[in-house]
Amino acid sequence: MEKVRCAVLGATGVVGQNFLRLLVDHPYFELAAICASDMRIGQSLKSAKEQIDGGIPKAFADIIFDPIDVGVLVDKKIKIAFSALPADVAKNVEKEAAKQGIKIFSNAGAYRMDKDVPILIPEINHAHLDIVKQQDTPGYIVTNANCTTTGLTMALLPILPFGIRKMVVASYQAISGAGYPGLPALDIFGNVIPYIQNEEPKLRRETTKICGTFQNGAIVPADWEVYAHCIRVQTVIGHLISVHIELDSQPTREEVKQAIVNYTSPPEVAGLPTAPEQTILFSEEPDRPQPRYDVLLGAPERARGMAIFIGRLEVERNIIRFVTLSNNLVRGAAGGSVLNAELAYRKGLL
Ligand SMILES: NC(=O)c1ccc[n+]([C@@H]2O[C@H](COP(=O)([O-])OP(=O)(O)OC[C@H]3O[C@@H](n4cnc5c(N)ncnc54)[C@H](OP(=O)(O)O)[C@@H]3O)[C@@H](O)[C@H]2O)c1
Repeated sequence: MEKVRCAVLGATGVVGQNFLRLLVDHPYFELAAICASDMRIGQSLKSAKEQIDGGIPKAFADIIFDPIDVGVLVDKKIKIAFSALPADVAKNVEKEAAKQGIKIFSNAGAYRMDKDVPILIPEINHAHLDIVKQQDTPGYIVTNANCTTTGLTMALLPILPFGIRKMVVASYQAISGAGYPGLPALDIFGNVIPYIQNEEPKLRRETTKICGTFQNGAIVPADWEVYAHCIRVQTVIGHLISVHIELDSQPTREEVKQAIVNYTSPPEVAGLPTAPEQTILFSEEPDRPQPRYDVLLGAPERARGMAIFIGRLEVERNIIRFVTLSNNLVRGAAGGSVLNAELAYRKGLL
C-alpha cells in the first residue's frame, strides 16, 4: 500500500530528531519534507547537530530543509505533518496547514485546550480523536500532552477503575524537557530548580481534559482535584513523578498491583507499529524506576521509550502512592505523536 507522505516541522530539535528516528522504515509514513528555522533553508539534514543516539538517520541525511511555507508542503503533496515547533511558531503554522488540508500531529501547546482539539493518548482516550471532525478546516490538529502530563496520565490507566478523587504530585523533570540548548549550564549543574514556568497549570488542566469523557460530541473534563509541584533536576532524559492519589474506594495493595501488572492496551491501540507490547512495567525493587536505567523501556524496537514504569507502590486505606517514570522525548513527545497518527491511519482519518 502507498505510504502517507509526511513532514517533520522543527526537525533539528530534540523532539524533531526523535521523530526522524521513529520514521525510518515506518510501515505507514514516508518522510518527504523537513523544516526548521529560516537559517536552515537549503541545507541538508546532516548539517544539523545530533540530538539522538546513533545520530541523524542515514536514510534522511541528504534531505534538504524547506522553508516553513504551507504552500511548499502542499506542492510536495504532504498529507500529515509532525510538529516539534515552539508554541508561538506553531500557532500560525499549524492552523494555516490545517486550512490547506494537512493533518497536524503536534507537540506544541498552542491548541491543546481548544474544545475541538483532542489531547490524544490513545490508550486513555482514543475516542477523543473523533472530535477533529468538528474542526472547520479540511485538515485538522491533534495534540500530545505536555511531557509530564503524559507520564502521569499513563500511570493512572490501571488506577481509574478504583475511582480517583484527588491527587498530589511532584515531578523531577530532565533537562531535555526544555529543548536544545535549553537551560544555561550554570543554572542547572549541581542544582535543582523548584519551578518550571507554566508547567503546573498545564499538568492540572491537561490531565483532567485527557481523562475526561466524550459525551454528545464534547469532552467533559474529569472533576478531580490535581495539585502539582514541577521541579527541574539535572537528569538528561526521563521525567520521574511521585504520585499520591486519594480514591473513592479502598482496594488492597495486591488488588492495585494486579491492576497494574495485568493492564493491557485497548484493542484500538494494540498492534499499532509504535505501541509497546507491554504499556506499563512494574517493579517491586525499592530503588526503581531510575532514569539512567529505565527510560528506554518498551518492545518491539520501534516502541523503545514508549512504555512507562511504576514502582514504590504503597496502598493505605483509600490512598495510593507510587513513583512513575516516562521518556519525555519519546512517549511524552515524538513517539506519542507518531502513535496518534497511526491511530488516525487505522481509523481511516488520514
Ligand atoms: N523536549 C520535550 O521533552 C518536549 C516534550 C513534549 C513537548 N515538547 C514541545 O515540543 C516542541 C519542540 O520542543 P523541543 O524540546 O524539541 O525544542 P528544541 O530542541 O528547542 O527545537 C525547536 C525546533 O523548532 C525550530 N524552530 C525554532 N524557532 C523556529 C522558527 N521561528 N521557525 C521555524 N522553526 C523554528 C528549531 O529549529 P532551529 O534548530 O533551526 O532553530 C528546532 O527544530 C515545543 O513546542 C515543546 O514545548 C517538548
